[in-house]
Amino acid sequence: MRYFEDLTPSTGAREPRAWLRSSRPRISLNGRWDFKLWDSVPSGEPVVGEGWGPIEVPGHWVLQGYDRPRYTNTAFPFPIDPPYTPSVNPTGDHVRWFDLPADWPIDGAILRFEGVDSAFKVWVNGGEVGTAKGSRLPSEFEVGSLLRPGRNLLAVRVHQWSSGSYLEDQDMWWLPGIFRDVTLLARPLIDDVFVHASYDHVTGGGTLTVETEPGAVVRVPELGVVTEPGVPVELAAVEPWSAEVPRLYDATVEVPGETVELRIGFRTVAMVHGVFTANGRPLFFRGVNRHEHDERRGRALSVDAMRRDLVLMKQHNLNAVRTAHYPPHPAFLDLCDELGLWVIDECDIETHGFIYTDWRGNPADDPDWAPMMLDRMRRMVERDKNHPSVVIWSLANESDRGGNFGELAAWTRSRDPGRAVFYERDRTYEFSDFYSLMYPPLEDLEAIGTRTEDVTTEDSALEARRRALPFILAEYAHAMGNGPGGLADYQRVLERYPRLQGGFVWEWIDHGLLLPGATDHVYGGDFGERLHGTNFCIDGLLFPDRTPSPGLTEYKKVLEPVRITGLLTIENHRTFTSTDDLEFLWSVTADGVEVDSGRLEVPEIAPGASACLEPPTTISSEVERVLTVRAVLAKDTAWANAGHEVAWSQFVLEQAVAVSTGSGLPVVDRGEVLRLGGGEFDRTTGRLTRLYGQEVDGPQLDLWRAPTDNDNGQGGRNGVTQEWRAAGLDRLLHRVDGVDVLDDGLVVRTRVAPEGLGVGVRTTYRWTASDDGLRLTVDVQPEGEWAGTAVTPRCGSWPRVGVRLELPKALENVQWYGGGPGEAYADSRDASRIGRYERTVDDLQTPYVVPQENGARMDVRWASLTDAAGNGFRVTGSPHFQLTARRWTTEDLEQARHRSDLTPRAHIYLTLDLAQNGLGSASCGPPTRIGLEVAPYTFTLTFRPAGSKSVDNYFP
Ligand code: GAL
Repeated sequence: MRYFEDLTPSTGAREPRAWLRSSRPRISLNGRWDFKLWDSVPSGEPVVGEGWGPIEVPGHWVLQGYDRPRYTNTAFPFPIDPPYTPSVNPTGDHVRWFDLPADWPIDGAILRFEGVDSAFKVWVNGGEVGTAKGSRLPSEFEVGSLLRPGRNLLAVRVHQWSSGSYLEDQDMWWLPGIFRDVTLLARPLIDDVFVHASYDHVTGGGTLTVETEPGAVVRVPELGVVTEPGVPVELAAVEPWSAEVPRLYDATVEVPGETVELRIGFRTVAMVHGVFTANGRPLFFRGVNRHEHDERRGRALSVDAMRRDLVLMKQHNLNAVRTAHYPPHPAFLDLCDELGLWVIDECDIETHGFIYTDWRGNPADDPDWAPMMLDRMRRMVERDKNHPSVVIWSLANESDRGGNFGELAAWTRSRDPGRAVFYERDRTYEFSDFYSLMYPPLEDLEAIGTRTEDVTTEDSALEARRRALPFILAEYAHAMGNGPGGLADYQRVLERYPRLQGGFVWEWIDHGLLLPGATDHVYGGDFGERLHGTNFCIDGLLFPDRTPSPGLTEYKKVLEPVRITGLLTIENHRTFTSTDDLEFLWSVTADGVEVDSGRLEVPEIAPGASACLEPPTTISSEVERVLTVRAVLAKDTAWANAGHEVAWSQFVLEQAVAVSTGSGLPVVDRGEVLRLGGGEFDRTTGRLTRLYGQEVDGPQLDLWRAPTDNDNGQGGRNGVTQEWRAAGLDRLLHRVDGVDVLDDGLVVRTRVAPEGLGVGVRTTYRWTASDDGLRLTVDVQPEGEWAGTAVTPRCGSWPRVGVRLELPKALENVQWYGGGPGEAYADSRDASRIGRYERTVDDLQTPYVVPQENGARMDVRWASLTDAAGNGFRVTGSPHFQLTARRWTTEDLEQARHRSDLTPRAHIYLTLDLAQNGLGSASCGPPTRIGLEVAPYTFTLTFRPAGSKSVDNYFP
C-alpha cells in the first residue's frame, strides 16, 4: 500500500517532544523553494527541471497561483472510501538547496517540519529520509548521516490527499502545502523538557519539577532556584499564572553545550466537586473558537498576525480560546502564555464527513485507526505540554462516538494528569471531563444550568457521571454575516449557574481568501465547484483583514469583566484581580454634547465583590441628558495602553421635553403639485418630490431587508427568509387609493401588497406642517391572513417596518444623535451607545464579505443628511427610529454575492425604521428571540431643514 494511504502515522520520524527554544545551532529553511505541481502522484525523486516555478515556504501552493483552494464544510471532496485517495491527487514537489558551513555540527542533525498538509516524503541529498502525516503537527527526522558541509539538497513531496485527510475534515479550506516553518536543528543535547509548576492557593507557595536530561541544571534566577531534573522544589511564595495576571518566570535548563530557555507559569487546575478550578477558583471562559486564517496566506500565518489576534482578544475582554480544530502554530501558545488566555488545545482530528455514510467506517470507532489518532494526540501533548495557558486537551472535533477516543483519553491522562480532557461530540461524554454542546437554544442551556436537562445516554452509569460534569459551551452564537444576535442573553444564562463555566463563540475570523490580484474575497462555489460549503466559513467576529466586525464589539460589551449598573454600582466579575488597575471616568452630555465630566473615586473592589457609589451631581436641563461611566486601564499593559476602555454604562438622566409639532400651515395647491411646509408632493401619487429644496422620492413603506445569513438559516432550517418570501414580502407593490387635501394637511392612503397573494398592508401617510417642521405620521395596518391559511403561507414576522426615501447623492454627510457609532439590531444592541456621531454614507456600510442587510443605527433621536455646503434636512423620530442609508437599494444588496457587485447608484436610499426583526444565530443555531410581529404600527417623523436654516421660504 502506498505510504500516503496506509495507516502508518509516519516512517523514520523521531519521537514527539516539546517545542523548545534552544541555544543549539539552527538554520531556517523558510524562504523561496523550487516547486512543481503534479495532478497525480509522480514516481521517483523530485528533480528540478522544466515546468518548475518558485514557491514561498511556509505557504500553500493553492494560494500562490498553482491550482486553487477548495472549501467544503462537512463533505470530503473525494469519495468516502477510507483510507484510499482519488487518482487525481494534487502533489507538490518542493526542492531547495542550502549551505552548511564547514564547522556546522552535522552529526545527529534534525530536520523539523512544524506543519505540512497533508502527507509528505522527504529526501536529503537524494537519500530517502521518511514520511509523515498529520497536517497541523510537527515531524522531526534525523538527517545527519545524509548531510555534508557546503551545498545540500532538500526535497519534499507533498500530497494533498492521504489517509490522514479522513481525519482532517474540519470546516475550513483544504489548503495543501508546507505551511509552517522548516528548520534544520543541530542534534539536541537536551531532547525534551516537561515542566510541572503548580500553585497552592492556600499557602501561596509553588512546586516546581522539571523532567529532562539527567545531569542538566535547572535555574529560575528570580526565585533563586538551581536544581536538578526530577526533583520537586518547594517554593514558599510564588506569584501564580492566570489569564488575568499572566506571571511568567524565566528559567533555563542547561547541559554543557546547550541551554534551553523556558518561561514558567505556576498554576494548578483541578476538578473540585464538579467545578473546574484554577488556583482554587472556578474558571469562567469568555471564549472564542479560533482557526488560523490570513486572507492571503491561509494557515501560513505570520507571528504578527497571531499577536494581533491575541491583542484584539484581550482588548475585547476575551479570556479564553479554543484552538478549533487543531493545534495552532507553536508560537501562538507562547503568546497566550505571555498575554494571558486560557487555552483549550484541540487535536487535529475531525471525521465529520462520515455523516454521509451514517458514520459507517468512522475511523474514530475503528481500532485500525487508533495508532494514527494516538500519534496525533501524542504529538500535540508532547509539543505543547509546557504552556501554562493550556489547561484543557481536546481530543477532537465532531467525530461522533468512537472507541479510539478511550485510548486517547487514557494516554493523555496518564501522561499529563495536570490538565483536563475534553470531547464534545460523544453524547455519553465517557472520555470527557466536561459536558458540552454546540448551539443549544437558551432554554436547553438554562436546563443544563439547573441540572434538569434531558437524558443523553441510556447507559445509567455514564448518564450519572455526565450529570455531575461541569458544562462548557464549545460553540455558540454563529457569527456568520450580520450577527450573531442574542449574545447578551447567552451571557446572562452562562453567568447565572455555577455549572456553566462559560462558552466559546463560533468563530474568530472570516475565512475569506484574497487570491493574487483579486479584490473580492472568495468562498465556496466561486470556482464553479459542484460540491462546496458556500460562504459557511465566512462566520467570524473579524473580517478577513482582521478588522473587528460589529459582532466583536457587541461581544466585548456583554463580556465586560466589570459591570457598571444601577445608579451607581460597580461589580467586579473577575476571578483573581481587584479593580485597582482601573480608573473610573464619567461624563454628562446634553443632546449629545458633553457638558460635564470627572473622575469617580472608587474603592478597590475585590474579585466577586461590588461597591455602591454616589452618582456625580450635575445640573439639569431641558434637553436629554445622559451620564456615561467608563472603566479604563490606569496603566499600560502588554495588550493595551492606559486609557483603554474595559467597561462602560449609560444612564439617561432626563428625557427631552417633548416639543409639540402641531399643524398650522395649509396645503398650497399648484395643480399637479401640492406644497406643504418645506415639502412638495405629486398630486396623483402623493409622493414627496421635494424636501427643503432637495429633490427626493418617497417615502414608501418598507417591509423588506436584504436577508442576512442568519435570516436564511442553515440549509432552509430555522430561517425566516423562506417564510418572508413565501408571503411575498420581497415583491410588494404599492397602490395609491387616494390623496386627500385637508384643511390642516395631506393624507395619502395606500395599500401595499405582494403579487399573487391576498394579504396586504393598509398604509396611510399623514402630513402636517407648522413652523416647527414637516411632520409625517405613518400608519400601518396588516390586512388578511398573514398568520396563514390553506393558500396563504404562515408569516410570523416582518423583516422591518419603516419608510424608504430616495435622496440626491450629494446628501452624503450623516450626523445623528442616538445609538452608535456602529450598527445595532434588536438582539445585538448592547454595544450601541447614545452619542452624537458623524459619518459619510459610505462609512455607514459594514463590509460583510457576502453583502446583506447591514449598517442600521438604533435609537436615533434625530439625524441630518447634508451636502458639502450644509444643505439638506434633519429628521426627528417619535418614537426613536433606526437609520440606514446606502448608495444602493435593498434589492441590489440582496442580489450581490460579493462586495464588488455593489455599484453606487445615482441616489442615496435612506430607510427610517420603527423596528427591524432581530438577527439571531439561525445560520447555525437558534433563530432570534426578538421577532418583529405582523401587527399594526404607527410612527412619526418630523423633517426640518438642516443646520440653522429656517423652515419656511423654500418656495419663494
Ligand atoms: C460546528 C463545527 C465548526 C463549524 C461550525 C459552524 O458544528 O464544529 O467547525 O462548522 O459548526 O460554522
